[in-house]
Amino acid sequence: MMDTSRLSVYLQSLEEENKGILGELEKEAIQGYVPIIKKETQSFLRTILQIHSPQNILEIGTAIGFSAVYMGTYTGKETQITTIENYAKRIPIARNNIQRAEMENKITLIEGDAKDVIEGLEETYDFIFLDGAKGQYIYYLPVLLRLLREGGILLTDNVLQEGDILESRYGIKRRDRTIHGRMREYLYAIKHHKSLTTSILPLGDGVALSIKNEEK
Ligand SMILES: C[S@@+](CC[C@H](N)C(=O)[O-])C[C@H]1O[C@@H](n2cnc3c(N)ncnc32)[C@H](O)[C@@H]1O
Repeated sequence: MMDTSRLSVYLQSLEEENKGILGELEKEAIQGYVPIIKKETQSFLRTILQIHSPQNILEIGTAIGFSAVYMGTYTGKETQITTIENYAKRIPIARNNIQRAEMENKITLIEGDAKDVIEGLEETYDFIFLDGAKGQYIYYLPVLLRLLREGGILLTDNVLQEGDILESRYGIKRRDRTIHGRMREYLYAIKHHKSLTTSILPLGDGVALSIKNEEK
């Protein structure tokens, strides 16, 4: 069987260092134990952004703003990014980081619980990056489908739960069983939804790439 942890170290070794403000934010996140997208996921995200050229992006889970600034770096001048965070301690840090990156005109940070915030959004988005509370994804899905335009992409991070996803409920620590069950429900839903075509990839912490099908 393939040793995926060695493979992951090898793949990470091929990645380029982030430069400038991105490099600084990445370092600060790691030093402060703030979870941010893994290296392999970063370059996957960048590749998808280049293929798709989204104008309007929605992110759930800003943390300190690393991925928002990353997306801001690899999209066109006109692209707008809306990002949502509810952890009070991280919000001023994210705001300051967006300023440091000189992206105040490109990135809008909305404070609040993602579930409430997304229900109130009325625009449509070409690209949604879902990187918030894993146990909530299944509840966000109907709203995200309303917000995603036809042909738009939904990229979901951390879907494989460090491999735990393949274990049965009884192989999972009691305290993690709810999240485990909800993530399985989410993966089933995005794989079987008639409006979505989805591929699940064992990249980084596991990503699901979904595209909203055009209505025939
Ligand atoms: C994995 S981190 C996001 C990392 C970020 N996308 C990056 O790569 O730089 C997940 C973030 O989602 C936030 N979060 C969790 N539950 C949330 C909720 N219900 N509403 C809004 N944000 C939430 C957490 O506070 C945390 O900062």
